[in-house]
Amino acid sequence: MRRLFVAGNWKMNTTKESGVALAKEVAAAVPSGGSVDVMVAPPFPYSSAIHEAIAGSGVELGAQNLWYEPSGAFTGEVSADMLKDVGCAQVILGHSERRHVLGESDEVINKKNHRGLEAGLHVVFCVGEQLDDRDGGRTDAVLSTQLEGGLTGVEGGQFANLTVAYEPVWAIGTGRTASPEQAEAAHAHIRGWLREHYGAEIADSTRILYGGSVKPDNAAELIGQDNVDGALVGGASLKADQFIAIIQAAQGLS
Ligand code: 13P
Repeated sequence: MRRLFVAGNWKMNTTKESGVALAKEVAAAVPSGGSVDVMVAPPFPYSSAIHEAIAGSGVELGAQNLWYEPSGAFTGEVSADMLKDVGCAQVILGHSERRHVLGESDEVINKKNHRGLEAGLHVVFCVGEQLDDRDGGRTDAVLSTQLEGGLTGVEGGQFANLTVAYEPVWAIGTGRTASPEQAEAAHAHIRGWLREHYGAEIADSTRILYGGSVKPDNAAELIGQDNVDGALVGGASLKADQFIAIIQAAQGLS
């Protein structure tokens, strides 16, 4: 069985002080060696402080982005090695806010995926359709295009370090969650795509997280779907009690 995985994407939120307090509360509830993988991705400037706050716990440190070149004249950007240097083990790439607010293309996301994997970071690669795609019946086609674009050149052996996150854009930060049936259908499509391109073994072992208004009261039903292997949580990851309740929902399903 795939190990369930709950990740918190803090986006551009918290102060250093509130972030450290939040991380400490989560870490206290997640000892190492637990049945569920847990990650938090704070804003870049707080990485070191959060790394210290979660030390010795079962929580891993993630980042919300990276740039695909190893170093050089890229003002404002952060490299994979810099992330590792401050304790990041994981990185979220291809998030819909990077795609649709910051204008990242599948090609750029593909380069970032390669860089993250080559650097030895665990990559949480996000895909998801917008509302007009869903209403127009194009959900599966959009997901296939994003998978194809983002994973071009990624080899089967690299999937041990890769998680896919399905985040329907219309469900992010809106309180409008995908129904368990909608989530399961999209996840089954993603797994089918992985099977077609990488074979059954990789498709069956790769985790696919759901993200989009995951809360304590809907987490168990969503994560309980056959092809849903955990959650990528935004708003509710900023409240320790809510994030811990979502982790506990996953533990209850493990
Ligand atoms: P919300 O949980 O706030 O909808 O955000 C989801 C998300 O984008 C996580 O990456």
